[in-house]
Amino acid sequence: MAGYLSESDFVMVEEGFSTRDLLEELTLGASQATTGKVAAFFVADLGAIVRKHFGFLKCLPRVRPFYAVKCNSSPGVLKALAELGLGFSCANKAEMELVQRIGVPASKIIYTNPCKQIAQIKYAAKHGVRLLSFDNEVELAKVAKSHPSARMVLCIATNDSHSLSHLSMKFGASLKSCRPLLENAKKSHVEVVGVSFHIGSGCPDPQAYAQSIADARLVFEMGAELGHRMHILDLGGGFPGVEGAKVRFEEIASVISSALDLYFPEGCGVDILAELGRYYVTSAFTLAINIIAKKEVLLDQPSREEENGFAPKTIVYHLEEGVYGIFSSVLFDNACPTPILQKKPSTEQPLYSSSLWGPAVDGYDCVAEGLWLPQLHVGDWLVFENMGAYTVGVGTLLRGTQACHITYAMSRVAWEALHGQLLPAEQDEDAEGMCKPLSCGWEITDTLCVRPVFTPASIM
Ligand SMILES: Cc1ncc(COP(=O)(O)O)c(C=O)c1O
Repeated sequence: MAGYLSESDFVMVEEGFSTRDLLEELTLGASQATTGKVAAFFVADLGAIVRKHFGFLKCLPRVRPFYAVKCNSSPGVLKALAELGLGFSCANKAEMELVQRIGVPASKIIYTNPCKQIAQIKYAAKHGVRLLSFDNEVELAKVAKSHPSARMVLCIATNDSHSLSHLSMKFGASLKSCRPLLENAKKSHVEVVGVSFHIGSGCPDPQAYAQSIADARLVFEMGAELGHRMHILDLGGGFPGVEGAKVRFEEIASVISSALDLYFPEGCGVDILAELGRYYVTSAFTLAINIIAKKEVLLDQPSREEENGFAPKTIVYHLEEGVYGIFSSVLFDNACPTPILQKKPSTEQPLYSSSLWGPAVDGYDCVAEGLWLPQLHVGDWLVFENMGAYTVGVGTLLRGTQACHITYAMSRVAWEALHGQLLPAEQDEDAEGMCKPLSCGWEITDTLCVRPVFTPASIM
């Protein structure tokens, strides 16, 4: 037991008890609060994160998972992942501070922003974070001066043209520029130890990983020719976090495994890492949010009015959070958040064209449009599932003004599995069917009979 996460960090729930039960209890309590302030909140099932981890190890046993802190830096998530033995991929000083504050050693942190402030490079040097990424000459010069003992990972560009969010426009060296960069690193006495890439998020083509792995092989050869001791391949993130994703995680894992066998076979002496964000946390978080205002807007469509015998209208609902906060995935990931109503509507209730808006006084803060909902009221709760990725920000956490309260929960079974107590699978391969599901209770899960093979060793 690593000691990052303790029973006091979450509500221990028994099997059969669901996130939705917990949510219902909490919304009832919040509605009855006498302060009049009813704030949005999350329920986070840490058991879902544990389950994802076992799923990852099962499909990609050769890959050491690191967690991309920017994705969700809430303390319960970081502690659970540290407890599972993950390393952490940090984009800035604030993220490094956050994970070091919970006790993660510097040897398990990668500073993966290829364009860093000099002060933050110095911070990494001072605090023992030695593995840093780069993709250009200027960065190389900065690191050579400010962090002479750094070990650099060359971040290469990928073909992310099909991905929903593109990173290669901003980050990643072209293959053509890799040799001069590696030569320059050698001249400047900067040690290059590996290659990384990020295929972008929401990529519908798993072959993009295979292509980037093949490209990385070429860069490994170049590096080795120039005398660099190349031994780290970092596959980045972009793995889907929800069940219904266009391309399933298992499909991507299978393409990656084949490409690794071809270009980086077992025993080749290369440590394979990935920096997963959304994969781990998306489905673990459910948001409950309250309607704070509403307005009925009559539509100027006389013909429909005549046809139906009543005025056509659309209902505009206002929420306390919008696309500049918790719902930022609408802007950055083309997400279409769909609310679940806490009170299930009866079949006789008429449905109205409806839209949900955030608090900003501008026309962009639209959370969802084109919904058909029954008549809702101020104070009613809306529930959004799969809200774990890119909703909880590091800035607010550091300032201690986290926007939304998070109630963490985990089933006893998941807690025991987290500590390697899934005994049936450990003792008897044939007893697979006897393994208990790892969830906070409401999902029917795969049985997870995999023992963690990734031990939290340093990668340096
Ligand atoms: C360098 C890097 N690694 C990992 C991630 C995590 O990506 P995802 O949440 O799609 O797994 C990101 C996200 O932008 C990133 O920039």
